[in-house]
Amino acid sequence: MNATVNVNGRITPERDAVISVFDHGFLYGEGIYETMRTYHQRPFLFDRHMRRLRRSAWMIDLPLPFTDEELAAQIRDTQAAACVEGEAYIRVLVTRGIGELTYDPKATPNPSIIVIVKPQVDPAPEVYERGVRVVLVDIIRNHPQSVNPMIKSNNLMNSALAAQEAIKHGAFEGVMRNYHGELAECTTANLFIVKKGVVMTPPLEAGLLPGITREFLFDIGKEIGVDVREQVLRDEDLFGADEAFLTSTTRELVPIVTVNDRRIGNGRPGAVTWQLLNTFRRRANAD
Ligand SMILES: Cc1ncc(COP(=O)(O)O)c(C=O)c1O
Repeated sequence: MNATVNVNGRITPERDAVISVFDHGFLYGEGIYETMRTYHQRPFLFDRHMRRLRRSAWMIDLPLPFTDEELAAQIRDTQAAACVEGEAYIRVLVTRGIGELTYDPKATPNPSIIVIVKPQVDPAPEVYERGVRVVLVDIIRNHPQSVNPMIKSNNLMNSALAAQEAIKHGAFEGVMRNYHGELAECTTANLFIVKKGVVMTPPLEAGLLPGITREFLFDIGKEIGVDVREQVLRDEDLFGADEAFLTSTTRELVPIVTVNDRRIGNGRPGAVTWQLLNTFRRRANAD
């Protein structure tokens, strides 16, 4: 993997990165995280990631004992130790911390703060040139009154089970529905379709992670005069789309050309997807 890890300020190679089995992140999956990547060695959209991290923390009642600048400094130190040539993948995790075997947060006064830095691995060029196949999976996205999908939570069993289904089918990603049967998002990415030039993605109310790439795409759309909007979507909207794509920090925009072995549009990455991807890359590399 070739990662460098910062555990509560102690930076080590991955083999020496350890955390207590009494950390409630391990015991109960109680923690939150962010995944960022660099362009020109600088974390892209850092402020937006910090905003989401703070909202996730607030939603699980976890006080974050650092300022944005302090965390940025920890990330910089870890990057410096990692000496990644090219771009870096950065994962920040904050768990409830170490304490007695109880759900009572008073048992864990000090959150654990972990920063993982490793080389960013881009998807192969064919992924963008040819597009990918996804499948609709049976596992549904968490109900918002369960572990709310708005929380970027370390508690990822539901997503792992959904991803396992997609992996069994040899698909690039799995698309999850919500408890109403509407489309929500992929297991590690947001979902978009294009119909008659309009770009649509399920609304946050459908129960999904507010992706930073998703959010940035609304700005990109405005910049180039493409209508990007939220819209409740169902299976038939995806099957009947002219184009579809998924978004995530580490994969940017990936064209979807097949869903459950049914072709989307003409079966090739579409013009609107390309236009958005090219503009996204231009902005990311310019910032
Ligand atoms: C469930 C889920 N949805 C969407 C995304 C995409 O979010 P972002 O664009 O912030 O990477 C992710 C990223 O890991 C994810 O796990």
